[in-house]
Amino acid sequence: MRRNYTRLFREGYTLRPCVLLLVLAGLARPSTPSPQEIPHLDRAPGSTQLIVGGKPFVILGGELGNSSAGTSAQADQILPRLARAHINTVLMPVAWEQIEPAEGKFDFSILDHWIEQARTQHLHLVLLWFGSWKNAFSSYAPDWAKRDPQRFPRAIAPNGRPLEILSTLSKENLNADARAFRLLMRHLRDFDLRQQTVLMVQVENEVGVVGARRDHSPEADRLFNGPVPDGLLQYLRANSDWLAPEIRHSWNPEGRTWPAVFADQAPEIFTAWHYARHIGQVAEAGKSEYPLPIFVNAQLPAPLERAGEYPSGGPHPLNFEIYRAAAPALDFLAPDIYWPNFEYWVQRYSDRDNPLFVPEARLDMGPFNAFYAYGAARTFGFSPFGVDSLPEVNSEADESKNPLAQTYSVLQQLADILPQAQREGRTRGLVLHANSPRPTQTVSLGGYLFTAALARSWPARTLLQDDGAMIVLQTAPDEFLIGGTALGITVSADPDENGGVAGIASAEEGSRANGAWITDRRLNGDQMDQGRTILLPDHQVKLLRVKLYAILRH
Ligand code: DGJ
Repeated sequence: MRRNYTRLFREGYTLRPCVLLLVLAGLARPSTPSPQEIPHLDRAPGSTQLIVGGKPFVILGGELGNSSAGTSAQADQILPRLARAHINTVLMPVAWEQIEPAEGKFDFSILDHWIEQARTQHLHLVLLWFGSWKNAFSSYAPDWAKRDPQRFPRAIAPNGRPLEILSTLSKENLNADARAFRLLMRHLRDFDLRQQTVLMVQVENEVGVVGARRDHSPEADRLFNGPVPDGLLQYLRANSDWLAPEIRHSWNPEGRTWPAVFADQAPEIFTAWHYARHIGQVAEAGKSEYPLPIFVNAQLPAPLERAGEYPSGGPHPLNFEIYRAAAPALDFLAPDIYWPNFEYWVQRYSDRDNPLFVPEARLDMGPFNAFYAYGAARTFGFSPFGVDSLPEVNSEADESKNPLAQTYSVLQQLADILPQAQREGRTRGLVLHANSPRPTQTVSLGGYLFTAALARSWPARTLLQDDGAMIVLQTAPDEFLIGGTALGITVSADPDENGGVAGIASAEEGSRANGAWITDRRLNGDQMDQGRTILLPDHQVKLLRVKLYAILRH
């Protein structure tokens, strides 16, 4: 496909002396690549894989703080440190105000430097497009947009005052956001198609209205009291089995206006529809240039929190079907999990085969929740927030100060075999806390039950650590790799499979490299509770190879 250069200049690439060279290079540029040629998702129920360079890639991710990617120098300071901490993919903001500082003048130099530094460090990137909205508000929009409320109107609070939230009802704002995002994706294609350092892109961040459940501008009032679009009604009728329980039980498919169809949920669903429409069109514009996987993330409601306290209309489970109807260009919806019930949210976002990727999670719980995410929820990527604030890792000794680095070091050793094991159902994971509702948790795999409890001291039996976690990956009949920390694990024969008596044949502590197992210690005696318990040590993350035996009941 020949590029339309008249359009390119009309859209405002800054004219530079080297522009002729760029034009000539551009003439040889390939047409929009097909998704199969670039990072893409290979979907399967419950175990979607991200394919990079033709192979499944496991994202051991970390998201940067919000003000950590605004200069080139920050790339040089931060990325080498993260690479040493076993992170393989960094989620970094790309601010609209940074790439389009004056309307129509685009500057990708800082982003390019980050991409180049990531390549030097053998890291991948996931870009977070902080465009019209970031955590509901519009603080990353360029000042030329902020200063012009006629062209870029705000959502209006019930008292008539404008909020610092760009309206979802403005065509002008949609066009400007979509154009900037499209040019960002075009630039990525030109700059990164060959190396594919950038794997995916998040569009906007934790959108929704804060301060009310919906925009109260005169236009929003008019639309709210008008008909629900036919396309949405038809979609919901056809997919009613998938509606969130809160909607399924109260919606009236025969109604016309938003309040008549959605009753009490109408303000939030109306809001979700308009955000999703805007985001879907921005995503589509980007994909028309470079069709990387594109997703959105949600701020999750706290228990009993009202819409408007949390961003109303974001892509959280109540609104899943609204987003699916309005924004088919999105590849998946993602949760930012800061609440303690990590497992619950992960399960909600695995519903209806939504590919599971966790772009943000609590940093202090990351070293534990990661084992659940990859082992139990079979995610292709997990990424605690604020990783650039973790202590530096310059040596193995430093890893004791950075538990996430320890966890990722173990998961990295499994990364070559994890995706296939996930897909074949040969992984399990769990996480336990001092305040968990039950002191033990059991998973079943390969005919065995693995029952884990938090590790305790001997002989006092006090808890050695408040949190513990593990991943179990079956490598052969009766053989398992177990990675994790601070657990005592007993095994028994699964009574629903063969029953009988089970025991531990051997346990070794070690590592994997180039597909081979290297034994550091053969464990027994006190390190195995005299052969009765597999012990994952506290304050360290270890990988064990365990062989079990079962004497079958006849
Ligand atoms: C969720 C947001 O998506 C992040 O950008 C950040 O603001 C964290 N919350 C909190 O620090």
